[in-house]
Amino acid sequence: MASAIRYVTDVDLGLTVVADVFINGSFVAAEQATVSVFERGFLLGDGVYEVIPVYAGRCFELAGHLNRLENSLAGVKMTNPYRDDEWEQLIDTLIQRNGGGDQALYMQVSRGAAPRDHVFPEGVSTSVFVMTNPLKPVSEIVKEHGIQAITLVDTRWQRCDIKAISLLPNSLLKQEAKEAGAEEALLIRDGFMTEGSASNSYAVFDGVVYTAPKDNTILPGITRDVLLSLAREAGIIVVEEAVAESKLSEADELWVSSSTREILPITQLNGQAVGSGEVGPVWQKVDALYQQMKKRAAQ
Ligand SMILES: Cc1ncc(COP(=O)(O)O)c(C=O)c1O
Repeated sequence: MASAIRYVTDVDLGLTVVADVFINGSFVAAEQATVSVFERGFLLGDGVYEVIPVYAGRCFELAGHLNRLENSLAGVKMTNPYRDDEWEQLIDTLIQRNGGGDQALYMQVSRGAAPRDHVFPEGVSTSVFVMTNPLKPVSEIVKEHGIQAITLVDTRWQRCDIKAISLLPNSLLKQEAKEAGAEEALLIRDGFMTEGSASNSYAVFDGVVYTAPKDNTILPGITRDVLLSLAREAGIIVVEEAVAESKLSEADELWVSSSTREILPITQLNGQAVGSGEVGPVWQKVDALYQQMKKRAAQ
């Protein structure tokens, strides 16, 4: 391999990060890592993944992410290659090799390299790939003014609870949002909002937070779990019920959540102001609690 490209760069942050990755049992420099062209992750999108935020060198909500990884692997009939303590050690080593601090850790397990066939190969070991990227803080402008979103038909499959690497539908939806000048697409299935293209979604009516229940139509977000328990502890009523598309224009607040983008307020939906058009008070309260929790976790 003659390429000297470092894949892990962040132009916005002015950083070129010299990073190591973990690939199939070894820690190597990013540009030295290779996979087989017969890898089923590459040919068929046959694999699952996790993204974990790392604050001050520590994974946030690691147990929740490892538990979801286990569920995703079971959902695609793959065996977890590592015990939780082995994952933890591997992840910690990579974080330290890449300088600690705040990172976004990506881990992927795919079914392995085998002659191309839809049917699963036998006797093949799974491929494991882990990398870290700089974790960009959510900008103050976004927190002050919120983001724009559009609604789109949820074109994804029936197993959105599995965090599969085959993200073409999500990617198409996010791209459509971007081309419409929006940051996220809120997805509508059978007349109800499921989630965002890369996030869970919420609507607030009269101080009550509504979000789709955990079923096959949404990814069980780790940030969603944290957010809902923080809100409930603070006395905010949370209802796990999907909101009808027809009600979205009447919402006082709309939010999305994900591990790397945290909790973001949506202040414009389909070009119309959400509620007052300003960032709402319920979001402010929940976000403040989330920031406190992050700070505690980083200590
Ligand atoms: C489709 C989808 N839903 C929800 C989420 C949020 O999940 P988490 O909070 O675990 O990052 C993501 C995150 O990438 C996602 O891709």
